[in-house]
Amino acid sequence: MEYLDFRSDTVTKPTEEMRAAMASAEVGDDVYGDDPTVNELQDYAAGLTGMEAALYVCSGTMGNLVSLMSHCARGEGVLMGTLSHTWKNEAGNAAFLAGVMPYPLDDSSGLPSEESVKASYQPEGNVHCAHTVLLTLENTHNAAGGLPAEAGRFSDIAGLARGMGLKVHVDGARIFNAVAYFGNDVRDYTRHADSVQICLSKGLGAPMGSVVCGTRSFVERARKYRKALGGGQRQTGVAAAAGLIALKQMRRRLPDDHKNAAALAEGLTAAGYDVEATPRRTNMAYFGVSGHQGDAGAFAQKCAERGLLVGAAGEGRIRMVTHLGVDENAVAAAIDILKDLGARR
Ligand SMILES: Cc1ncc(COP(=O)(O)O)c(C=O)c1O
Repeated sequence: MEYLDFRSDTVTKPTEEMRAAMASAEVGDDVYGDDPTVNELQDYAAGLTGMEAALYVCSGTMGNLVSLMSHCARGEGVLMGTLSHTWKNEAGNAAFLAGVMPYPLDDSSGLPSEESVKASYQPEGNVHCAHTVLLTLENTHNAAGGLPAEAGRFSDIAGLARGMGLKVHVDGARIFNAVAYFGNDVRDYTRHADSVQICLSKGLGAPMGSVVCGTRSFVERARKYRKALGGGQRQTGVAAAAGLIALKQMRRRLPDDHKNAAALAEGLTAAGYDVEATPRRTNMAYFGVSGHQGDAGAFAQKCAERGLLVGAAGEGRIRMVTHLGVDENAVAAAIDILKDLGARR
């Protein structure tokens, strides 16, 4: 069966242009720093974000992990939203691999409040507490509905943290969705941060990989941790060639995903589904299926039987994500299937 796949923007297949660039990529041994395509990607990412340097890593998870390890010593504290990907969805690696103590912040509205950052801060010198050295922020915020952060609010929170002596790491897996939403510049975020992780394999359509950007010394530490974690790859220019196309050319297509997600949300609402309201929609729509006894897994299964793949995103909650592989016809077809299934059974 040919599926309409709305589970995630990670399901995209590389474009013909990516495949051609991969086939003809100039390569070398990247552990020796000899891969010209990887080096070009890293230089391009650093220039784009206004950071000194960048490092190509296997995945967003690895990018976030090497960032935590590069900013923090074991036993130090990190302020982290409890809905963030680093808290919930990276297999607990902050604790068991980076050895840091995550302090919980409420990020249900995308960004934590100034008050919560101040309240959770632990200065050095108190033997009872892990002292805090880092704040992580996610933009766009996946679990908060794909919410893009307003640059002003973002700089207020990041600026407060830096004023308190904390470093700021941005999980920018989908930061270019935020940039596409506001029509601003990625530097409106990165200039307030010490590091950013950007996924090439989501809306930007590359088959794999992320870049982590920061100062030269941060990137050198991250390179060491990447190696320690087994992420030092060799002729990886083959993959970086697709990443370069993702970063250079695919940012401009993200507004299409946003338009399709808006149409999807509208169609689902019209079909009677409880679509979660959001002040700023990018490429996601979350909705409740309590009318189906609240079992998201069973609901996703019923959709799959009709050729539609959706994500079960927790109890009674479904996520659908728009991307390169689903156009407006796919959105219309998905709405028809969901209408047919019925919002309440
Ligand atoms: C916000 C966010 N950060 C990080 C990641 C991790 O990326 P990866 O799947 O490449 O490890 C994801 C993956 O979906 C994500 O949504």
